[in-house]
Amino acid sequence: MSDEKKILYSGMQATNSLTLGNYLGALKNWVNLNEEFDCFFGVMDLHSLTVRQNPTEFRQNARKLYALYVAAGLDPEVNCVYYQSHVPAHTQLAWILDCFTYMGELNRMTQFKDKSAKHADNINAGLFTYPVLMAADILLYQANVVPVGKDQMQHLEITRDIAERFNNIYGDIFTIPEAYIGKSGARIMSLAEPTKKMSKSDENANATIMLLDDKDTIIRKFKRAVTDSDTEVRYDTEAKPGISNLMDILSAVTGKSLDDIQAEFAGKGYGDFKIAVGEAVADELAPLQAEYERLLKDKAYIEGCIKQNDEKAAYFANKTLRKVMKKVGLTEMIR
Ligand code: TYM
Repeated sequence: MSDEKKILYSGMQATNSLTLGNYLGALKNWVNLNEEFDCFFGVMDLHSLTVRQNPTEFRQNARKLYALYVAAGLDPEVNCVYYQSHVPAHTQLAWILDCFTYMGELNRMTQFKDKSAKHADNINAGLFTYPVLMAADILLYQANVVPVGKDQMQHLEITRDIAERFNNIYGDIFTIPEAYIGKSGARIMSLAEPTKKMSKSDENANATIMLLDDKDTIIRKFKRAVTDSDTEVRYDTEAKPGISNLMDILSAVTGKSLDDIQAEFAGKGYGDFKIAVGEAVADELAPLQAEYERLLKDKAYIEGCIKQNDEKAAYFANKTLRKVMKKVGLTEMIR
C-alpha cells in the first residue's frame, strides 16, 4: 500500500450469484477505480448471516464471490480481497460502534424495514444493527471512498454520522468516507417490474440478469423485458421506466451517453434495441465468465490469495481497532 493513494473500501454480501445490478452498480466501478486507489474488497459473509443460510451452500457462495471479484479484474496481488469473517476486528469495532449508535437512527433504515417485511419470521438483532457492522467495515480501513449502488447511500450516511460523533468525542480517529455512485448503473431495475430494484432474491427469474447467465438466456430475458406501448427509445424514468432502465444498462456497459443511445436507436423500435442491449451485456460478461470458470478450478491459487489478504486486511484493521480501544479506555492486552 502506498502513502500517496487514497483508500477505497467496498464489499458485497456472499449470497447466491451476483446480478447485473451488483455488477453495474458496484463491481464494474471497483475495477475502473482500482488503480487510482489503494483498495480493500470484502466478501461480506457476516452480513449474509442476517438471513438464514444453508451452511454448505453459503460456504460455496462465499468462495464463488471471491472468484468473481478476481475474475472481474480485481487482482488480489494488488488489491486486498479478503473475507470479512476472517478479520475479527470487524465485529469488535462493530460492538464499540453499537454503543455510539441510536435506536432511532437504525429504525429509520429503509433496508431494515424492507428486509423485516420480507423475513417477518426472522427479524433478528443482526438485521437491525447491520448498518453498524457496515460502518465498522469502512471505518476500520480509514476509507476515503466507498463505491456502491444508490440503495446503500443511507448506510453510507449513517456511517459518516457515527464516525463524526466518535471523532467529536475522541479526536480525529476515523476518516469520514464519501460514497462513490457511478454516472449510470447506480440503480438497475427489475426487467419484469421496472419500478422495482433488480434484486438477487426476486422470485421471477426473468426479472433478473445473473452474472453467470449464458448469452441465450441473457438475450431471451432482455427480449421479454417489460416496456411500454410506445415505440420510441427515449429516457424518461416516469413515463418509460422499462426503456429508461435498458438505456441505463446499455450506457453503463458501453460508456455511451443516453443522448447517443437515443440517437442511435431513433426510428428502430424496441425489438432491435432489446437485442442490442442483450448482446452488449452478454459480450461484456463473457470474458468474466470464462475467467471465473478457470479460477474456480485453481483452488491453490485462490486459497493462497485468501490467506495472504486476510493477513493484510487484519494488519490494517487492527491498527485502527487498537487506537479506538485506547481512546474509549479499554485496557490494553498484556502480551
Ligand atoms: P449488496 O450485497 O446488497 O450489494 C452489493 C452492491 O451492489 C449494489 N447493488 C445495485 N446497484 C445497482 N442496481 C441494483 N439493482 C443493485 N443491487 C445491488 C449495492 O448498492 C452494493 O454496492 N451492505 C452491503 C454490503 C456491505 C458493504 C460494506 C458495502 C457490507 N459492508 C462496506 C460497502 C462497504 C450490501 O448489502 O450490498
